Amino acid sequence: MCVVGSANLDIVVQVPRHPVAGETVLGGDHARIPGGKGANQAVAAARLGRRVGFVGCIGNDAAGVELHDALDGDGVDVTNLRIVEEAPSGIALISVGPDGDNSIVVSPGANAHVSEADIERAGPMLAAALVTLLQLEVPVETVTEAAESAGGLVLLNPAPAQALTSRLLESVDVLIPNETELALLSGSDLATTFDEVVDQARLLPSARTVVTLGAQGALLVDETTVHHQAAPPVTPVDTTAAGDSFCGALADVLAEGGSLVDAIAWGVMVGAATTLRPGAQSSLPTAAEVADLLELP
Ligand code: RIB
Repeated sequence: MCVVGSANLDIVVQVPRHPVAGETVLGGDHARIPGGKGANQAVAAARLGRRVGFVGCIGNDAAGVELHDALDGDGVDVTNLRIVEEAPSGIALISVGPDGDNSIVVSPGANAHVSEADIERAGPMLAAALVTLLQLEVPVETVTEAAESAGGLVLLNPAPAQALTSRLLESVDVLIPNETELALLSGSDLATTFDEVVDQARLLPSARTVVTLGAQGALLVDETTVHHQAAPPVTPVDTTAAGDSFCGALADVLAEGGSLVDAIAWGVMVGAATTLRPGAQSSLPTAAEVADLLELP
């Protein structure tokens, strides 16, 4: 499979509570952890055993070396990871609260330079991939080009949320928003019931939508069917990258030829297990670790 997206160095601080505007909050020591939605999703699938190629950009700096080595160390094909001179590597400033909830500010840096030319260069990889997984931390024109160049299934995790063209949404086989992203894309208020989630999903031109619901699991909606998958109960320490590992796991099952229902069942397990360890790529589990972390029989 192929992932086109961002790589960020995450600067993570545990906080007793998230600051409001104008406020300073004292937190713990910071940690530097490889992250970025694209790189996280690539590593998530690689740790589950999938062969993954990554298309993205890093800066010519120390953070770029860390991000490259993290992907490479997990066996991700980095042939199409380009070093740019015009910008530093992407970074994300992340505060994590006592309940594992996070607040994230991303400085895209090199990620903003992932271009349509990068997609052209990666053409053979995209054409051959059974699944291409996309997010929105690189320019949306590039995401659109990637969706249209992909030879296999196209999955889009529309995060961070932004309005999208019908042209892009129509090229997507499976859209994977959370409830906030779904509300924005459908021009609605945040849904408060499953029925509202279903109605909003059906307003979108994508063929199938998988709405991630955090602790409540995920909802698969297409024209005629609705399927709810509950998540295993967990007490999260850090929810960072749980959505990314869900997407990576979903893509992994689909690349194996599995059904979307099976993919969602595995995705909620992997996502839940990810919340039990801190950080982004530091928390992404192998299949054996999912079983251990969730104490499965
Ligand atoms: O989804 C989590 C990720 O969002 C973090 O790793 C951070 O880099 C931001 O991209």
